[in-house]
Amino acid sequence: MAITILAIESSCDETSAAIVKDGKVLNNVVASQSVHQEYGGVVPELASRAHQQNIVPVVNKAMKDAGVLPKDLSAIAFTRGPGLLGALLVGTSFAKSMALALDIPLIEVNHMQAHVLAHFIEEPKPTFPFLCLTVSGGHTQIVLVKSPTSMEVVGQTRDDAVGEAFDKAAKMLGLTYPGGPLIDKYAKEGDPNKFDFPETAMPELDYSFSGIKTAILYFLRDELESNPEFIKENINDLSASIQRVLIDMLMNKLRKAAKQFDIKEIAIAGGVSANSGLRSALQQHKQKFGWNVYIPDFQYCTDNAGMIAMAAYYKYMENDFIGLDVGPLARMPI
Ligand code: KG4
Ligand code: ZN
Repeated sequence: MAITILAIESSCDETSAAIVKDGKVLNNVVASQSVHQEYGGVVPELASRAHQQNIVPVVNKAMKDAGVLPKDLSAIAFTRGPGLLGALLVGTSFAKSMALALDIPLIEVNHMQAHVLAHFIEEPKPTFPFLCLTVSGGHTQIVLVKSPTSMEVVGQTRDDAVGEAFDKAAKMLGLTYPGGPLIDKYAKEGDPNKFDFPETAMPELDYSFSGIKTAILYFLRDELESNPEFIKENINDLSASIQRVLIDMLMNKLRKAAKQFDIKEIAIAGGVSANSGLRSALQQHKQKFGWNVYIPDFQYCTDNAGMIAMAAYYKYMENDFIGLDVGPLARMPI
C-alpha cells in the first residue's frame, strides 16, 4: 500500500498543506496572509487568526487536488517549530485532531530541517554532505547536511535575519512590506558601489545584520538633512549598495564554510534565495570555485508545506513518530 502523508505548515504567515505519496510531493497549497502588509511586518496575533480561517480550506484543497481521501492517509505531519507560538498552535492542534480521529501516526517536523529538505522535492538533488544557506525573514543559517535526518548548524545570525535586514532597510527607504523584492528590483538599475555601508565582522561562521540597519539609518538621516529628496533621487543606487553589502556578507561566510568543510555542494533556501544579487553571486562562485549550486523552485524556497511533507516522508521511513501530547516549540534547534 502506498505511503501517503498530509503535511501542514503554519509557523509564520503562510497557511499551507501538501500531500506526499511514496516520496513524491504531489502538490503544495499555500494561502498567504495579506493582512500584515499595512503593518510593515508580521503581526503574530493576526497570523494566528488567519491560520484559523485558512486551515480547513487549505487542507481540503490539498486532499481534493491530490485525489486523496482521509482513509488513504498513512500519517499526518506538522511543523512543530521554530516559529510564532500562536501560529504553530493552529497547525499542531489541527494535525493532532486529525491523527486522533483517523487513528494514524503523527509526525513532527522541524521547519529549518524542512527548508533544507526542500532540495529533495525536485531534480537536481544535492549529494551528501552538502552545505545549505537558509536565508529568509526569520532565519539566516549555514547548515552542514550529512543525511536527510542528520544536520548541524555551523553558522547563524546572532541578531536579525538577512530578510529582516532587507525589509527594515526597505522601510527606511519608504518602501512597502516586504521590501526585499523591491530592493532587488531597484538594485537592478543601480550602482552597487555608489554608497559604502560597512560589513559587520563576526567570529567563525556567524552573522550579524543589526549594525547595517543602524548604519543605513544614520547615513540617510544625515543626507536627508541637506537634501530632503535624497532617497527619491538615489533609490536605485541605495538599493544596489544595500543589496551588495548584505550579499557580500552572506557569501563571505558561505565561502569560508565551503573551504573549512572542503565541500563544493552548495544549496540555498528561504525567501531571500529569490534575490537576483544572491543568485548571480552563486553563479560567479560556481564558475570560480567549481561549486555545484542548488536553488529550489521558488514555491519551495518560501514557507510551504511541500518541504514539510518531504521531511515527513524521511521520518516516516525511519518510524519516527510522536505522541498526541506534543505541543509547538517557538524555538527548536535543528
Ligand atoms: O521564507 P520567507 O517567505 O518567509 C520567512 O521569513 O520565513 O522569506 C521572506 C523574506 C522577506 O524578508 C522578504 O523580503 C525576503 O524573504 N525576500 C527577498 C526577495 N524575495 C523575498 N529579499 C531580497 N530579495 C528578494 N528578491
Ligand atoms: Zn521559513
